[in-house]
Amino acid sequence: MKNFTAVSDVSDVKALVKRALEIKQEGPGSTIGQHKTLVLLFFNPSLRTRLSTEKAGRNLGMQVITMNAGEGWKLEFEEGAVMNGDSAEHVKEAAGVISRYADIIGVRSFPAFQNREEDYSEKVLRQFMRYASVPVVNLESATLHPLQSLTDLITIEEYKTTARPKVVLSWAPHPRILPQAVANSFVEWMKVSDVELVVTHPEGYELAPPFAEGVRVEYDQAKAFEGADFVYAKNWSPYYRYGEILSQDPEWTISARQMSRTNNAKFMHCLPVRRNVVVEDSVLDHPDSIILQQAGNREVAAQAVLERLLLEAATPRRGGC
Ligand code: CP
Repeated sequence: MKNFTAVSDVSDVKALVKRALEIKQEGPGSTIGQHKTLVLLFFNPSLRTRLSTEKAGRNLGMQVITMNAGEGWKLEFEEGAVMNGDSAEHVKEAAGVISRYADIIGVRSFPAFQNREEDYSEKVLRQFMRYASVPVVNLESATLHPLQSLTDLITIEEYKTTARPKVVLSWAPHPRILPQAVANSFVEWMKVSDVELVVTHPEGYELAPPFAEGVRVEYDQAKAFEGADFVYAKNWSPYYRYGEILSQDPEWTISARQMSRTNNAKFMHCLPVRRNVVVEDSVLDHPDSIILQQAGNREVAAQAVLERLLLEAATPRRGGC
């Protein structure tokens, strides 16, 4: 694994989940990251990703430097830009400079929702990958949140009671336009896992084609919930009518009534969550809600990823003759 930006960067997802669960048993104490530095750049706010990735780095013995990247020099990401506007520094220099101080760079950058193609081109993340000379970790980009999805998979592995659980990803209402990153990544990771995945959402909230491909969609939430072992709630905005809000229907709020159709499903959400808009208090505060355990697993997920990247970087490449 050279970078961690999507599920496709991971050659053995099962082994990575297993390693994260081993780390949970072992506890902190690794020194593999000694004299190594992790630089985390946040162009957008974070609670869980920031704290869990910082802690994971420190658990491995790394020095950790976190920057609110949006508050520093405004960066330019366009190739060939004439920089006579607001941007003071090009990502070519910035990523190159940070690579002189860092052994791994983490980047969080949300979509702007002005232009779908531009958001889906992942310009910020890709430019960092292009100009950094060290591994890059996606801390949630415009379209993907792989650290969250690895966490979700670890949590499902911990709590499942059948070999192939039924996992339902349900859209839920939200007052703001939210990214598709968590839903896209969740689907991407579930597709390579041994689960029965059903996605439920109102019409118009179909995910982007590569993610939606091969996934069972059920437009009736009640039907989707029948026999579910896990219910994962998330709002996302429409892919086709990009940047719009098509529904705020409270019938889609995850309720105790809908949860009663499940197989005593565990309730999951990546957080932060809007109580009584996305999900009722009675579901969030129920013993079957595992949102805090899920958030706790962010630390071991990040640690497993950082450990793999450090090991990979330390492995000498086989030379040709
Ligand atoms: N779930 C998640 O990524 O939380 P933060 O936005 O707080 O990092």
